[in-house]
Amino acid sequence: MARKIINTTVKTRAAAPLSVKSDILAVGVFSDEGKPGKLAGQINKELKGAVKKLMALGDFKAKCSSSAVIYTDGKIAPARVLLVGLGEKKKLTSDCIRKAAASASNKAVSLKVANLTVALSQQLPAKLSGDTIGQALAEGLLFGGYRYDEFVSKSKENRLDSIKCTIVDEAPEKIKAMGKGVKAGTIIGKAQAYARTIANRPGNIINPPTLAAEARKVANADPSLTCKVFNEKQLIQMKAGGILAVGAGSKSEPRMIVFKYTPKGAAAKAKKPIALVGKAVTFDAGGISLKPSAGMEEMKFDKSGGIAVLGAMKAIAALKPAQTVYGIIPSAENMPDGTATRPGDIITTMSGKTVEIKNTDAEGRLILCDAIHYANSKLKCEAIVDIATLTGACVVALGKYMAGLMSNDDDLVDQLKAAADSSGEKVWHLPCTDEYSDDLKTPIADICNIGNSRWGGAITAGAYLKAFVGETKWAHIDMAGMDMFAGKAYGTPGSPGYGVRLLTEFAVNYK
Ligand code: BES
Ligand code: MN
Ligand code: ZN
Repeated sequence: MARKIINTTVKTRAAAPLSVKSDILAVGVFSDEGKPGKLAGQINKELKGAVKKLMALGDFKAKCSSSAVIYTDGKIAPARVLLVGLGEKKKLTSDCIRKAAASASNKAVSLKVANLTVALSQQLPAKLSGDTIGQALAEGLLFGGYRYDEFVSKSKENRLDSIKCTIVDEAPEKIKAMGKGVKAGTIIGKAQAYARTIANRPGNIINPPTLAAEARKVANADPSLTCKVFNEKQLIQMKAGGILAVGAGSKSEPRMIVFKYTPKGAAAKAKKPIALVGKAVTFDAGGISLKPSAGMEEMKFDKSGGIAVLGAMKAIAALKPAQTVYGIIPSAENMPDGTATRPGDIITTMSGKTVEIKNTDAEGRLILCDAIHYANSKLKCEAIVDIATLTGACVVALGKYMAGLMSNDDDLVDQLKAAADSSGEKVWHLPCTDEYSDDLKTPIADICNIGNSRWGGAITAGAYLKAFVGETKWAHIDMAGMDMFAGKAYGTPGSPGYGVRLLTEFAVNYK
């Protein structure tokens, strides 16, 4: 690989923010206070009214994650102050803190400065715990400091190799209270950055075998993780007809990657395992039901569900919850070829259920149904959560800000909603009742891979998966909109690594 991704690091320090030398100091401001808060007020005084002037001009309204730079002219230790909006004080959420931190590190990268001090915690109300604040700050800093430029020649853009973020607060007890959160946030933020890099790599670099090699590397780096990779020959033995059908037209063989995180202690080991299952179609050309060429390059992101699981397993292994967690990543490349699966073909999946494939572009559900069956029947998981860039219909329904959530269990829905709240990776609960299953009936096989009308396409896809889970608790996250609009919604082009924070938060807090 041509070039290493920028390395963002996060640490903490108990010190007065204005006395710490740095290239840029990030300070939070609420939009509904009418004046700078305590720290920004202090800066205003030192800089002879610069903060108030800027606000009076209307250049900075302190909306969540907006920002403005002030040059300090040697009057205080930091060379620049970055005012960062925290939005309305009464509406403050951990996600707003995360976004504010992200906009600070984003700015540092854009300005090509290496040392960022972050004094956002000083402004925050006591209702948020130190852990929550610390985690959101670390996750946000790592998120905003990310750029994908592995293949950009060095001479084209001389960015720094690393930026160092230091969370400062003059109260040592506050720094201490944030410690655990900063540690967890750093683990999760780094796993997410890793996931973004793998997701951003194109189809000529990441295919099922190279993805499996990455997975092995992740597992080798942590003794609590193992990774088993099933190759095509083994998938044939396992009768994984869905995965094999999708991979049939590609020169790259399909794979099924199975991670296992094992906790320490007999009580934790005795608990039934849970599974995270992620779709990794390394490129989705649509197969014989070929997609139109406009925008087809976006389909390198069709592996993002699987990558979310990859990143989450890395974070989970480091956070060490008292619960066995499997991470299953079925992976194939969906290409048209003389050997490809045809529309009209009837295949037999691992579960024994036969599927009429009416459209080879509805391939995600075909690889997922085998992986879900494996989690259910072979690994005997108590709960299964799958995540996938599954349908354009979900993007039509929910747009670019949240993923669709479908499930057969209300408790699992609640747990995922809680994880979405704390991670800031949002989900919206959609129905997935039996009516929708009727749309998948066909007279010539057990089930059809597309619905009999074009309505409710996100839900019929969910209903298809539901047919493979039996009585087991299951939830499905359709994240198609998250990566498709990635650049536009998050300011940084490419994958936002959606799902890493959500799945990690879910697995670590699973009850
Ligand atoms: N990977 C696509 C879904 C997708 C679409 C993801 C847009 C991101 C953005 C999936 O495999 C697909 O092609 N789904 C079809 C299903 C249809 C044939 C029933 C779709 O959504 O058009
Ligand atoms: Mn498709
Ligand atoms: Zn797809």
